[in-house]
Amino acid sequence: MRSVKSSVKGSKTAAARVAVLIVIVVQPLGLAAVWPQEPSEPRLGEEFDKQEKIYRSRGADVPRGYVTGRGLSDYAELLPTGFCDALGKLGSSDRWLDIGAGAAQAILDYHASQDDAAPAQKCGRSADKARAVAMSIEDRRTDRWRDRAASLGDDRIRYLSGKRLRDYAPEELGKFQIITDVFGGFSYTEDLSRFVDKVLSLLEVGGAFYTLLPGVHLENAKDKLGILYLTELEDAAGRPEKVCSWLKQTACVQVTCESKSDWKRPTELINIRKVCSDVSVPRLKLWEFEAGYPPARRFQLER
Ligand SMILES: C[S@@+](CC[C@H](N)C(=O)[O-])C[C@H]1O[C@@H](n2cnc3c(N)ncnc32)[C@H](O)[C@@H]1O
Repeated sequence: MRSVKSSVKGSKTAAARVAVLIVIVVQPLGLAAVWPQEPSEPRLGEEFDKQEKIYRSRGADVPRGYVTGRGLSDYAELLPTGFCDALGKLGSSDRWLDIGAGAAQAILDYHASQDDAAPAQKCGRSADKARAVAMSIEDRRTDRWRDRAASLGDDRIRYLSGKRLRDYAPEELGKFQIITDVFGGFSYTEDLSRFVDKVLSLLEVGGAFYTLLPGVHLENAKDKLGILYLTELEDAAGRPEKVCSWLKQTACVQVTCESKSDWKRPTELINIRKVCSDVSVPRLKLWEFEAGYPPARRFQLER
């Protein structure tokens, strides 16, 4: 699990303080973090409150590590191979949803006008542009967004905020050919299986979800010493489970993982293609959550 210093500071219960001490001692040895045996509702509630403060932060209060302005070239670097080509193939009646869009710079770059001063975007370049929907819990729209939305008109770009992905009814969102998530809900949610289930329900059959997950046990690499994990999974018997093996148990999808073992944190770039409509994601239960950007989470597969 990750360093204590990158998480939000705050008062801890005595039990949590002991757990944190164990983590500090054990982690430099590269061993698995020691989490409490039982999820504690009050402690989780405290951490959720801290997480809300991060979402609501504004101006100078936004933590430096909470980045909300990545552009399309960042998405091209961070998302799995094939994302830019797939975006470039979308037509004007297709739809792209970016979950956890922050300031929605990636969508603005995609929909930049020809004479825009922004550097030419290689990613997703095409004459026809898909309709794009940016989703964020908090509203981080900029003046540039408002101007571009007004000049494009006809609802070509939309910004949704004020609630989480799980709170939208299917008819509010419709279906999409491409869904992306760059350090958005996939890295931040406290209900990972429900989140993936919802994403897949919004994809057309044949559509794809492009995302990444930092600080995980990699599919194709041995764990190195001293790694600070952010998202840890266990099977129902409490044995470590890799995020990609869990995703591959989902019905009606093809999952491809690109393991980045030489990045600052071991990171999986994940592409999930929906191949039929009866999707069923194996359920996970949240065992631990520590607020941060992104938060540290531990889940266990339900029996
Ligand atoms: C660190 S920012 C990333 C912004 C952008 N993708 C970027 O890379 O610059 C995290 C974003 O995820 C959003 N987010 C987190 N959990 C979410 C959820 N469950 N549903 C929708 N948005 C979520 C936050 O509101 C915020 O917009």
